[in-house]
Amino acid sequence: MNAVESDFVSADASPLSAYEKAALGGNDPRCIPQHLDGPPPMCSEIVYPNYTEEEHQIWQTLYRRQIELLPNRACEEFLRGVEMLKLNPNKIPSLAELSNVLEAQTDWCIARIPGLLHEQDFFKLLAERVFPSTDYIRGKDEMGYTPAPDLFHDIFGHMPMLTNKDFADFYQLFGKAALNAKGSDRTALERFHWFTVEFGLIETPNGRRIYGAGTLSSATEVMHSLSDDVVVYPFSPERVINQDYDVWHLQPILFAIESFEELKQGFRDWTRLRGLL
Ligand SMILES: [Fe+2]
Repeated sequence: MNAVESDFVSADASPLSAYEKAALGGNDPRCIPQHLDGPPPMCSEIVYPNYTEEEHQIWQTLYRRQIELLPNRACEEFLRGVEMLKLNPNKIPSLAELSNVLEAQTDWCIARIPGLLHEQDFFKLLAERVFPSTDYIRGKDEMGYTPAPDLFHDIFGHMPMLTNKDFADFYQLFGKAALNAKGSDRTALERFHWFTVEFGLIETPNGRRIYGAGTLSSATEVMHSLSDDVVVYPFSPERVINQDYDVWHLQPILFAIESFEELKQGFRDWTRLRGLL
């Protein structure tokens, strides 16, 4: 445990997550994790909200800006996922329809959730191959980056990679391992999630590319993550779990995998060593 974490210890003596620490600071109430009070609507049960024209326009602006940045920056697997999902540039997509695509590709489905979930609820859904997604969009004043979840991050950032079998299998394994994690393993897995699912890079024959949802749903992070301002280390579970991070600033240190097979296998080996799977 490092100095920052030792200041924040929850009632069960587990170190608090970065989001819990941020919530304690009173930075943003949307970042306070909440428990589900019942099973969330899933797949075709998810009702399409009555979005305003302004909300569709926010989606349109965010989508167009990000899609232009993707060539030669996002990895091939992500780009293929965007095509498979057939996202409409002008209209906020339907979670029920996206869930159908994921189900056909990798046997994942989507649950509509009200905001940032408490970790155990989040991990339980992942372990069942269910991706929890919000269905509300950020405000006009947060077009660059928002640390709070919203549908643009959940849909555009996360769902394309869930069409890839290796990544989809890895993410389910992550959920299963995280359900069993206690104490320092909990912090280790949180860092693992951050530096792979949210801000991961991959080395390809055509150069370094991005697969992380936190990066690919933010124009600023896309440009920053492939710039000389970032130190990139080769992926190694032990190195990743010892790297602290801050949810409120651009990432100064990132990790690059060689393949999604390596990510899945590396994670499986590490969790087995720790007795988490
Ligand atoms: Fe995310």
